[in-house]
Amino acid sequence: MCENDVNRRAALLQIIGGALVLGGTAHAEETLRRTPMVTLGPFYPLDRERETDADMTRLRGHANRAKGEVIEVTGRLLNRRGAPVNRGVVEFWQANAAGRYAHPSDPNTAAALDTDFQGYARIVTDQTGQFRILTVKPGAYPAGRDWSRPPHLHIDAAGRVDRVSSQMWFPDDPLNGQDRVLADYPAAAHPALMAKKLDARADGVARFSWDIVLQTG
Ligand SMILES: [Fe+2]
Repeated sequence: MCENDVNRRAALLQIIGGALVLGGTAHAEETLRRTPMVTLGPFYPLDRERETDADMTRLRGHANRAKGEVIEVTGRLLNRRGAPVNRGVVEFWQANAAGRYAHPSDPNTAAALDTDFQGYARIVTDQTGQFRILTVKPGAYPAGRDWSRPPHLHIDAAGRVDRVSSQMWFPDDPLNGQDRVLADYPAAAHPALMAKKLDARADGVARFSWDIVLQTG
């Protein structure tokens, strides 16, 4: 390496160093808590190439809607500075209203499958980072001899730089207090995992909102 190269390299390192310092300043402006990582779990859908649209309550060609209480879930995919993640991909999957996953590993066979339930959706966020799904409220399901998982949605959200898998809990569910998955997280992390209940739609459909926060987006 000649002296010129060494100087050029030193100058480059200085620029990178400066960028890191600027990055450090930006870090100080980060205000949102990153969505806590929760395992994908054993029921991440094996077949993700079937119907994936935002209305999980209806399947093409089926006369009936999925069983259960229809709910709408909206939210935004953001980074820690609050900037929206455009064209991020958010996958949703969940148990049906009876607490059963359409997955061969689900041992809860006492609960019936619902062949009218889509059970999985893949949403591309818009310029404001927003996503919206229509689904049914998932049922609780037994997770051991003496406890049950409360209703929850699973998500995997991918931005351009990073991604997170997590779960969304429903506020005020009586089973939340005994959920051993939620108990793995400190109380300070719980608000980031809990949906907010909004006013119901004019047609009576219950609405929830939940923002997903990536480190960088
Ligand atoms: Fe689950």
